[in-house]
Amino acid sequence: MKGVTVISHPLVQHNLTRLRDKRTRPQEFRRCLSEMSALMLHEATRSFGLRPVAVQTPLAKAKGYQLEREIVLVPILRAGLGMLDSILQLVPNARVGFIGLKRDETTQRAMFYHKSLPRDLTDFEVVLIDPMLATGGSIVAAMNLLVELGAKHVRFINLIAAPEGIRHVRKFYPNLPIFTAVVDEKLNDKGYILPGLGDAGDRLFGV
Ligand code: PRP
Ligand code: URA
Repeated sequence: MKGVTVISHPLVQHNLTRLRDKRTRPQEFRRCLSEMSALMLHEATRSFGLRPVAVQTPLAKAKGYQLEREIVLVPILRAGLGMLDSILQLVPNARVGFIGLKRDETTQRAMFYHKSLPRDLTDFEVVLIDPMLATGGSIVAAMNLLVELGAKHVRFINLIAAPEGIRHVRKFYPNLPIFTAVVDEKLNDKGYILPGLGDAGDRLFGV
């Protein structure tokens, strides 16, 4: 699928399987999600822009590079929170914005309940974070908000994507780079991903 990068790194795939297993308890679920997220960030940021700079070592001048843009991480609450800490350890200077979205159980439509983001995202490298891409409603809603705030450089880090969700996102955001660990089979009639891992937020926080 165009613009979708499936990260097949063995540690990602090993942890994904632990997450899928219904016997995996919240403590291990959090650990596996954290570990995978750091690896995903690594892959997803390969194309970050760099600007050449000169640096003075103790001995001589050297050519070096600097990130072209500041980074803003945007986890979608709740489940995106499980990916945030390990990612922040790799990019500790990043700013963090939050988007609270909750799917209505019956309509499967995502409703905002929290927004806390820098006022102008034009010059930032924005990394949107959510482990589940199901119908795609949450990501499209989040993207609409980011674009309203001027975001021009956005990528999405995800763990499990449904083909239906990818198609929905593509209708509105054909060029959004999506990094995922797997594209699953389909959605069930309640909008859950099959085989998926169940409700990511509940499994993460033990509800
Ligand atoms: C889950 C998940 C995504 C969303 C994906 O969150 O973490 O944000 O569903 O579904 P979609 O692609 O159909 O929009 P949920 O709304 O259940 O909230 P939670 O993280 O608080 O459980
Ligand atoms: N949200 C989840 O947490 N899991 C799904 O399978 C779909 C949406």
